[in-house]
Amino acid sequence: MPLMHPANDAARPPDLAINPLYTRGGETTAVPRNELPAGEMLPATAYEIIHDELMLDGNARMNLATFVTTWMEPEARELMSECFDKNMIDKDEYPQTAELEVRCVHMLSRLWNAPDPEHAIGCSTTGSSEAAMLGGLALKRRWQHARRAAGKTADRPNMVMGVNVQVCWEKFTNYWDVEARLVPVEGDTFHLTPEAAAERCDENTIGVVAVLGSTFDGSYEPVKEIASALDGLQASTGLDVPLHVDGASGGMIAPFLDEGIEWDFRLGRVASINTSGHKYGLVFPGVGWIVWRDLPALPEDLIFHVNYLGGSMPTFALNFSRPGAQVVGQYYNFLRLGFEGYRLVQQTSRDTATWLSGQVGALGPFELVTDGSELPVFAFRLADEVDGYTVFDVSDGLRQRGWQVPAYTMPPNREDLAVLRIVVRNGFSYDMAAMLLEDLKRVVEKLEQRAPIHENQRTAFSH
Ligand SMILES: Cc1ncc(COP(=O)(O)O)c(C=O)c1O
Repeated sequence: MPLMHPANDAARPPDLAINPLYTRGGETTAVPRNELPAGEMLPATAYEIIHDELMLDGNARMNLATFVTTWMEPEARELMSECFDKNMIDKDEYPQTAELEVRCVHMLSRLWNAPDPEHAIGCSTTGSSEAAMLGGLALKRRWQHARRAAGKTADRPNMVMGVNVQVCWEKFTNYWDVEARLVPVEGDTFHLTPEAAAERCDENTIGVVAVLGSTFDGSYEPVKEIASALDGLQASTGLDVPLHVDGASGGMIAPFLDEGIEWDFRLGRVASINTSGHKYGLVFPGVGWIVWRDLPALPEDLIFHVNYLGGSMPTFALNFSRPGAQVVGQYYNFLRLGFEGYRLVQQTSRDTATWLSGQVGALGPFELVTDGSELPVFAFRLADEVDGYTVFDVSDGLRQRGWQVPAYTMPPNREDLAVLRIVVRNGFSYDMAAMLLEDLKRVVEKLEQRAPIHENQRTAFSH
């Protein structure tokens, strides 16, 4: 938490404790916690101090809260470590890393069915959050150009999306002065519906965001139906509202497992798509991608041209310097796995998720909100008749065994509903799922023997 106030640390001793075996002859044994040490220490000592402290981090493979890749093959790790020193922006120094980025964009634009992949345009980012900023900026600038060309004001832009969007979209609207029109979730539908999306649009709407799939429960939003509702809106009002698909996770699941679902550039209304290479793209953090369907979808005046590489290299990014290793890791996975390899990995995750959700649903106290058959992610709640404990107690109980399974309340208007969520990723095997299930049974048995509690003072979902 780099924004934490140092005073929060006041209760702890000012110096770091050092195991006396680590200190070599003559070395200091006192190392300040919050001040730059006055002098040097040996590399091995520094390594041991930090290595020991990091033991307190959870085991990444048992973290079922995150969507982000926690395992890569040794060959990928080796390639990435060979590229730690490469700066992605330095395209004249590292033209081949730049070339691999371009190839990845080509592969993604074909995977997402761009009508003319040679003319789709895109780039890598640090993750889906940066990609969301770029996608949102392109929508805003397009809208501004169109408004000004029509002699109209362009000072009150808004963006329509479900309240279930990931926080990056609220950041986009906050940071770039766009009104966020967040559609609440109602009843048992926990994501954006086509009618609600179209109803919220007006002449100031820069775009609608549809999520594939929702961070809260792994469900796919009905992108095709949302696009049709916006077609209907155009037919009746003349408003031509573009659609951005946030495929942070689903952008690397649906192409391999749900070829029949039209959610991508096959829909004429989809202007741009983002994904997180570091989620189901299977790369360590942080890499994301954004692709626009064609040149008009990305206004030229957002692009900076740098004349590295002999030619003119367009760049559109929030950062300047950033690591090249992740892009190389992404290209490695594309080359190594190909379509069939990705299909197999994602199918295995989906099979594990649906098997596990079936078992959880059959345990008794739980009801499934989703079953992992879209994203390999499922959310579940306690049945109404269970009143002796909460999902937060279940989450705490699993944590004692090292499993991180978050519990949180759903967004407005369903804050009354608290759920647990399991994200199945490559590396969370069927065997691990079976072990988690055994632990879940034990936790439930223990909670059922315990005296009932009546108070619920827990925090809401804040990912
Ligand atoms: C739907 C969705 N969009 C965007 C993001 C942000 O992605 P990143 O962590 O790659 O910035 C997430 C992260 O969980 C997500 O689930």
